[in-house]
Amino acid sequence: MGEIVRLQKYIAMSGAASRRAAETMITEGRVRVNGELVTEQGVKVEIGCDKVMLDGKPVEIKNKNYYIMLNKPVGYVSTAKDQFDRPTVVDLVKKDIDTRIFPVGRLDYDTEGLLLMTNDGDFTYRITHPKYHVEKTYIAMIKGGMKIADMNRLRNGMKVENYTTSPAKAEILDAVDGYTYVKITIHEGKNRQVRKMFETLGYTVAALQRISIGQVELGNLPLGRWRHLTSHEINCLLG
Ligand code: URA
Repeated sequence: MGEIVRLQKYIAMSGAASRRAAETMITEGRVRVNGELVTEQGVKVEIGCDKVMLDGKPVEIKNKNYYIMLNKPVGYVSTAKDQFDRPTVVDLVKKDIDTRIFPVGRLDYDTEGLLLMTNDGDFTYRITHPKYHVEKTYIAMIKGGMKIADMNRLRNGMKVENYTTSPAKAEILDAVDGYTYVKITIHEGKNRQVRKMFETLGYTVAALQRISIGQVELGNLPLGRWRHLTSHEINCLLG
């Protein structure tokens, strides 16, 4: 059985019109469901089963793929549903997107920055599977100063819990007001890996932001906002 949605949502999902415009079209008598004229709001249809016609032409829902980037704020979980009912990244995009999309990998609750989201499982696999070595770059705000020897441990690969990290790219960007800002690039995605790398070396991570995935950069997208990836960005990520 297909998903059951309101008629105006169905029309919007097809890309034929916005939901609001679809409501008007229904009222104007331009829409038929299974041959029957529908002029009242609230009628539900089953995707892939009911035949919807607009101005005598079939309205079909193609399997459109979405590829978006979100600037995730701290305080959101990167899952579709949270067991503790905390706000999710899906909450930030769902009012604008008429299909279910999912985060590509995860950012911690307390990490902000670039999160990709899509409804394309192959794309997710291509970005998240360790064998593809997609680089992810973060800025870590570290309490206090960073020793050069420790920067080199990040760069050489280091033992964290029961695994050894691959060599990371790491550079100090700035040191202000008692904090050091370290830009670090890894291509693995172990749980809380960046935080654990610094914590293993005895540092406190005051804040963590992801700024790029592969060649795709967060840029100046405001916190909490999202945008579609360009086809160039999608192609870069798919390599
Ligand atoms: N590493 C972390 O520690 N946290 C993240 O959210 C991502 C990478």
